[in-house]
Amino acid sequence: MNDYDIVEYPHRPIAHAHPDRFAVVAALYGMQPAPLSTSRVLELGCGSGGNLIPLADLNPEASFFGVDLSDAAIAQGQKRIDALGLCNLRLAQMDVMDFPADAGEFDYIIAHGLFSWVPQPVREKVLDICRRHLAPQGLAYVSYNTYPGCHLRAMWRDMMQFHAAQFDDRQTRIDQARSLIHLVAHGTGQDDAAHRLAQEEDARCAAIPDSGIFHDDLAELWQPFYVREFAGLAAAHGLQFVGEAVFGDMLPVSIDGPAREALAALEQASPIAYQQYLDFFRIRRFRRTLLCRDGQVLRRRPDVDAMRRFHYSAQLERAAVDDPDAPPGSCAFRNRLNDMTVTTGDPAHAAALDRLMAAWPSTLDFAALGDGDASRFCAVLLDCLASSFLNAHLEARCLPRESRERPEIWRVTRLEAALGNTLPSMHLGIVQIEDEAVRRQLARFDGSHTRAELARQCGGAENLASILARAAKSAILAG
Ligand SMILES: C[S@@+](CC[C@H](N)C(=O)[O-])C[C@H]1O[C@@H](n2cnc3c(N)ncnc32)[C@H](O)[C@@H]1O
Repeated sequence: MNDYDIVEYPHRPIAHAHPDRFAVVAALYGMQPAPLSTSRVLELGCGSGGNLIPLADLNPEASFFGVDLSDAAIAQGQKRIDALGLCNLRLAQMDVMDFPADAGEFDYIIAHGLFSWVPQPVREKVLDICRRHLAPQGLAYVSYNTYPGCHLRAMWRDMMQFHAAQFDDRQTRIDQARSLIHLVAHGTGQDDAAHRLAQEEDARCAAIPDSGIFHDDLAELWQPFYVREFAGLAAAHGLQFVGEAVFGDMLPVSIDGPAREALAALEQASPIAYQQYLDFFRIRRFRRTLLCRDGQVLRRRPDVDAMRRFHYSAQLERAAVDDPDAPPGSCAFRNRLNDMTVTTGDPAHAAALDRLMAAWPSTLDFAALGDGDASRFCAVLLDCLASSFLNAHLEARCLPRESRERPEIWRVTRLEAALGNTLPSMHLGIVQIEDEAVRRQLARFDGSHTRAELARQCGGAENLASILARAAKSAILAG
């Protein structure tokens, strides 16, 4: 029995670990990653399949394999697989150390929340599996805690662990760990720089579930790495650094002045030194690194032209222009998921963003965004991707905006609605619905009831229209 048998880890998808999205980063650096829809995907430490189950349902021609040490997590995942009748996903209770040598090659290997929290031999094995089982154009996604930011976290962890160790009961340990940080942050009357950091830490502790405190802050194994060290470990296993799953994470987005100049001097000399200094400047705590086989030739700079091959999505709305320097006639757009705002004075770009806004939650390809100066447009899209203003995908996704006569919520969302408040969307985002009555209501949207029947159950046609509009925007409406 491991800690994850005792305290369940949340069952939810990880949007950043979506192969269709992180493959774009590899394509920008010269790789030809496989289309997810027909690929083989492996997840190490997959928990109860919160990531793999939505992917498997959305990609019936692809095949998925997940392994996890926890009996309880695999049993939870298997119940869901049985309920959905998924034939293209296999979950196995297994120690990574026993991973079968004859498992074949995978186009994508995902290890999220595993590497920093397991002993050194398991870490070595994770990298060994990546090397042995990645297809030639295969990509591994490995997340891990990083220095220097984790030196700061280590201070809070030490305090929490010291204090919590006095208590036997698990829940008391979690509560007391939080209380201590709260006391340091707000109970001393101090307002120096260190106490302001404590206030940030207190806010972080308040925002994460008990399982996060238990499995992360109070975990015995918790090993951060400098990215240079991590790249060295990967290289020792015949793997090389490709980039970060979130494109902007590997770029000096929002770093200005002399630090940016210092980075520019490193850019051509050594990509890893560049990333290391970027982590210093960001005081970074966490990375989601992409690795490939070491023979692969990678570009030093992203291939801007590759932007023509991708598909784009963003949940946008028009916003007020609040940049006093914006030329007359400029328009502003806000990304509703992360509040990023872009202001443009170019009518062709504004028209493209309007089209993207209208298409959400579906993707649009490069040509459908409009015509104009294609090279300039590629550069603008690359900037938008770097700032996470929009998402780029290797493959198109067509999701409904309108419901059918018998409306249906995506079956994976409905299944989770019956089990808890964290529901997956078809973009692998999360829709949080606290109200149990609303979640029960969603269960009725199974494609068997007419709009008229559902309107009666939902308190009228207007309520139904509003539920369906929200479902479409949240990417949980089935086509
Ligand atoms: C922090 S959870 C992450 C779960 C999932 N990847 C996610 O992000 O939601 C870490 C998972 O790794 C699993 N794990 C830890 N050591 C393992 C090992 N040696 N072999 C297989 N799984 C392991 C745990 O059981 C747990 O489910």
